[in-house]
Order: sequence, then C-alpha cells, then structure tokens
Amino acid sequence: MSEITRDVVIIGAGAAGTTAANELRKAGLSVAVLEARDRVGGRLWTDVIDGAMLEIGGQWVSPDQDALIDTVAELGLETYSRYREGDSVYVGPDGTASRFTGEMFPVSAETERVIAEITERLDAMVAEIDPDRPWAHENAAEWDSISWDAWLRSQTDDDEAVRNLAFATGSAMLTKPTHSFSLLQSLLMAASAGSYSHLVDADFILDKRVVGGLQQVPLLLAERLGDDVFLNQPVRTLEWSTTGVTATAEGITVRARHAILALAPVLYNRISFVPALPRLQHQMHQHISMGFVIKVHAVYDRPFWREQGLSGTAFSPYELSHEAYDNTNHGDERGTLVGFVSDRTADDLFRLSAEERKERILESLSHYYGPEAKNPVVYYESDWGSEEWTRGAYAASFDLGGLHRYGADLRTPVGPIHFACSDLAGAGYQHVDGAIRMGRFAAQNIIEETRA
Ligand code: FDA
Repeated sequence: MSEITRDVVIIGAGAAGTTAANELRKAGLSVAVLEARDRVGGRLWTDVIDGAMLEIGGQWVSPDQDALIDTVAELGLETYSRYREGDSVYVGPDGTASRFTGEMFPVSAETERVIAEITERLDAMVAEIDPDRPWAHENAAEWDSISWDAWLRSQTDDDEAVRNLAFATGSAMLTKPTHSFSLLQSLLMAASAGSYSHLVDADFILDKRVVGGLQQVPLLLAERLGDDVFLNQPVRTLEWSTTGVTATAEGITVRARHAILALAPVLYNRISFVPALPRLQHQMHQHISMGFVIKVHAVYDRPFWREQGLSGTAFSPYELSHEAYDNTNHGDERGTLVGFVSDRTADDLFRLSAEERKERILESLSHYYGPEAKNPVVYYESDWGSEEWTRGAYAASFDLGGLHRYGADLRTPVGPIHFACSDLAGAGYQHVDGAIRMGRFAAQNIIEETRA
C-alpha cells in the first residue's frame, strides 16, 4: 500500500473527474485521480467488438452543449453529422410502419393537433425553468408531486398523443417508467437541453459524433494527467474532517485537502465515510436512482436501409425498440444501426436467454427496416445495468417529489468533499456536457476556497 499527498483527490476518471483534475492542475494544484475500473472514461467507452468499433456508452453531441463542444475542439478532435438523409419510420398502434419527414410523427390530424398543443404548453413551462435551479420555480412543489404520466393524461384522453409525448423524456431520456418520476423532473430534462422541442428533434439532440469515439475526451484529458491517474483503485473509505481527507483504495492511500466525488451518486454508498455523511445526504442519496436502457448495436455489410430511401431514424412507443438510428461510423463501408430498449421492457428482455433476446430485438428492428435487419454481421448489447461501477443507464434522477425536496443541496459540498457528475448537472443534465460542467464547477469552488 503506497501513500501519497496531494491538494485534491478525485474519485472517478469519467468526463467529470478528468475535467476537474485538469482544471485544478491549471490553477497550480496537485491532484490524484483514483479510478475503480481498469480503464478511464466511465460511461464513455469506445471499443472494438468482433471487428466493429462501437460506442458502448455515450456518443452524441448536440449544438447546445458548449462545454463539450469546446472540450472536443480544444482536444483537437473532429466531429461528423449523424446520417439523416431520407425518410424516418414510425410504427403506429396497429403495427403499421409509415414513412415521414420532419419532427411530427405520421399520426391522425387530431392527434397531431393535440401533440402540437401540449408541446407548446410544455415549451412555455420549460422556458420558465432555470435548469440549474428547477426547485426555485414557484410551482416546483406542485409539479414535483404529479407523475409525468399522470400530468400528460390530465391534459388529454388521446392515448397515442400521450405515449408519443411521454417517451421523449421517459424511455428516451430518463429511461424510467413515466409513472415513477415527476413532471418537474421531466421539465428539468427538457430545460437542460434548452426546450422540450429540442428533445423531440433528433436532428438537434443527436446531431454529431466524434471521429474515433467520444471516449477520447476523458482518455486525452487523463493523458495530460500522466502518472496522477491510478486505475484499478476503487476507493473504499474516505476519512474527512475540516482540515482534509484521506482516501483509501485497493493499493493506495491519498491524503489531500479536498476530495471530489466524480462518480454516479447511486455509488456514493459504496464508500465508507468516516465520520458518516450528514443525515441530509443520507436521505437525499436514497431518493436518486439510475434509469435503465439497453443500447443495441447491429452492424451490416452495408447500410441497406439507405437504398430504400430511409434515413435510419425510427420511432414507436409501441415497439420493443422505441427508437433506432443509423449509427454508421465515419468512413465505414459497413452500416450500423443502434436501437434502444428501455425500463420495464429492458427488465423483461433480461429474463429471456441471450438468443431469445437477440431474436426479439432484431424482430423489432425489422418492423422499421424490413427483414434484412434480422441478419447483422455483428450484434452487441450494451448492458450498463450489470456494470458494478455504473449500475444503469443513461444516468440517475430523483424519484417522485425528490427534486424539489433535495435538489438545492445536491451539489453543496460537505466539509472538504465536493460533488461532480453529469447526474447532478442543470444544463447538460445526464450528458457528457453536464459532466464537464460539473467537473469545472467543483474545481472552481476548490480553487476559490484555496485562494480565499
Ligand atoms: P461516469 O459514471 O462516466 O464516471 C464515474 C467514474 O467513477 C467511473 O469511471 C467509475 O468507474 C468511477 N467510480 C465509481 N465508483 C468509484 C469508486 N468507489 N472509486 C473509484 N472510482 C469509482 N451522454 C451524451 O452526452 N451523449 C450520448 O449520446 C449519451 N449516450 C449514452 C449512452 C449510454 C449507453 C450511457 C450509459 C450513457 C450515455 N450518455 C450520453 C451519458 C454520459 O455517458 C454520461 O452522462 C457521462 O459520461 C457521465 O460522466 P461522469 O464523469 O459524470 O460519470
């Protein structure tokens, strides 16, 4: 067991932790980053599976994500646009696939009117929400006390409209059943991306990818830290007092003046805090949980759907895979589709054998793209639920009522312990952009404390 001393110990080498460490270094502070896994990046993981480069975790960059866009540029990385030429596909309640262009699904004129009207209402509500302080809105308590599903159903009896409106923040973002989180949590998700309309606009929210993979962001940031990143070092104990911290991991002990917990909040309880964290944190952290989604990758010898004039963009609240996209890598002759299976549907699928699961998922993709979708040359399911150091996907959110009760305390330091993670962000919430913002925020607070 080696022992070292630094100004700041950072626990977690994801986008938040590696950003914070670099910011602190720039301000002249010494750092040590302790990472549980044998790799840097956390929920960013670009790997080669059966010869295909896959983005197992996060990958897309949208135009509002300034913090990520600046970092990508500063690291000298290139981006490219998601393929989007041609028609999108929507599968309706009777299982019929219809082609469409633009953002509105091909539903009846009446359902379209209802969706447009409620979207306008939502955009107006979202415009009043400060993503960094949603709990400060005068209706926060009321909006946090009703589930997203119940609120939508109180607006209309049109089931198809409700399902289509619900899934933008439900299956597609928070990846939890829509009865389990509040209207306020849903508004925060939308406000963090600028508006509700942004979330339903795939061309906006899933705009660009990074050539060579998004994991390069934390990898290059970690490279700058050299020997100050320690892999295979799950932190087991964090002793703290007003004067500093001692973090004890598998093979190393770090003494420092400050700590940054740069890990998903659902994992804080894997660390023994000595003394224990205050009661407020104990309570608050029990009201935060991870969503769950399976990201499915299917690689084909060519992007066959393009030959049919399809963009690859596909949606249906009635399908196992509620959304799917062309995810072909930059410069790749092969074609890749990515599909998503969320919350309870994902739970159900994991009760099946791997073979049955694959068959059911590919069957669902074939409803969008035709029978050829059933025969990929490479098939892979990203299963973050079974990853010990993540435990779900994409990120964590409050249960019903938790956001206005605890939100204001989420990022408040406890003595020398600071918190940074995409799951605590306002702007960029649940995204890499939010992780970078939170890394900068925690680092800035420590820099200011140090200078005071
Ligand atoms: P992150 O969880 O990445 O890092 C925390 C680190 O702490 C991990 O490396 C973990 O191993 C480590 N750790 C945990 N406990 C520890 C302990 N006790 N000791 C030491 N280390 C410990 N975002 C986006 O912008 N665009 C997208 O397209 C997507 N898509 C997407 C798909 C999938 C499948 C996933 C899972 C996620 C996304 N996301 C995304 C979300 C995005 O990937 C995510 O928000 C950020 O990468 C989170 O970065 P953080 O650094 O905050 O946490």
